[in-house]
Amino acid sequence: MALNTFQRTRLARVLNYQDARRLAKRTLPRAVFDYVDGGSEDEVTMRRNTQGFRDLRFRPRMGIWVEEPELSTTLFGQRLSVPVLTAPCGGLRLIHPAADIAVACAAASLGTISVASSASGFSLEAIAASSPDRHWFQLYRYLGRAGMESLVNRAKAAGYQAIVVTVDTQVGSKRERNFRNGFSFSMRVNAANALKLSPQLAPRPFWLARYVRDGMPFQLANTAAMTRDGAPLALPEMGRRESNSPTWADIAWVRQNFDGPVLVKGVLTAEDSRRARDLGCDGVVVSNHGGRQLDGAPATIEVLPEIVAAVGDTVAVLLDSGVRRGGDVLKALALGAKAVLVGRPYVWGLALGGQDGVSYMLEMLRAEMTRSMQLMGCSSVHDLDPTWLLRAASSGPQAG
Ligand SMILES: Cc1cc2nc3c(=O)[nH]c(=O)nc-3n(C[C@H](O)[C@H](O)[C@H](O)COP(=O)(O)O)c2cc1C
Repeated sequence: MALNTFQRTRLARVLNYQDARRLAKRTLPRAVFDYVDGGSEDEVTMRRNTQGFRDLRFRPRMGIWVEEPELSTTLFGQRLSVPVLTAPCGGLRLIHPAADIAVACAAASLGTISVASSASGFSLEAIAASSPDRHWFQLYRYLGRAGMESLVNRAKAAGYQAIVVTVDTQVGSKRERNFRNGFSFSMRVNAANALKLSPQLAPRPFWLARYVRDGMPFQLANTAAMTRDGAPLALPEMGRRESNSPTWADIAWVRQNFDGPVLVKGVLTAEDSRRARDLGCDGVVVSNHGGRQLDGAPATIEVLPEIVAAVGDTVAVLLDSGVRRGGDVLKALALGAKAVLVGRPYVWGLALGGQDGVSYMLEMLRAEMTRSMQLMGCSSVHDLDPTWLLRAASSGPQAG
């Protein structure tokens, strides 16, 4: 879908993630913007995620001219042009009709990997078919063990290279912005709800027209193949039956039944990272779901060193939650992450310009990484280690 002049001009005004967020706020109805932007309860964890990165400072080395810093890396034998993946985000058809397919194509054209959500707006098969084979699949426990097993088997058949099992959604969290805005995945697309939301929808006619043209999708596309009548289910229909969050027994099953890498997403302690490793998993994603689940959980960058120390020599440690700048990526790598995932920044880009908007945000991260490395005198992401960061007490390099 080519951008019109308005969209092109608007994207060109985006100098950083804050601009993208501000413009996305003007583009999306309040309930939809807040669904993306918000966290749970007091949003303390969400704010700490970004603050945690800001609190870290570099120890740059001078007198070194780095023409072209090396950003590429390898994950499970697959080469990535940048150590940045797109995080699995559900509900993206609310943001833009091209949704997950736009994200998968943008990530593939940059030479990196997208992680398709179980809660995607398109079926996992459609996403895999949309772009070259650079897909991982994020797994929820929809419709109990049987539903989860069917998702794994479908992901296998569709050629997904890795499975990322999300373990931090035991129950729906208290995202108060959603309650206030009357937004819930239990709502139906019907006249009564349209009326209720009309004060928020009326000022966004372009979004509304696009959403209506798209058929007002509000369900979980992956579940269509799991019901008798082929009609997709809504999120609460799943939640009512059982938790969506796989347990360690489920993860053991996934490990035994999927040949490729298995990663556990939502790990925040050394204990859980060891448990994942001992079950034979290949990686962990240090994540608090972008501050959207347990408020009071630590910022991920705070607990990264503990997890790297526990399992970093045996499994791949990835991180997400709060990555906003290229410099944040470098800080996570310096503390031992192999790569990071970004969530909200690319979703804002999607709101502004579909696939082009996602590409724009990913390119911006890449350009910021390059510039920061040149200013640090660091020629390769593989050289990053704790000596590139000041210790919290600011009296010397971070301890290894
Ligand atoms: C709109 C939205 C939807 C999300 N949906 C999912 C999901 O379906 N599965 C999942 O594992 N994580 C989901 N997440 C969490 C992200 O994968 C990721 O952990 C988080 O966004 C990273 O934090 P950041 O947004 O600060 O970059 C979602 C996040 C957002 C913002």
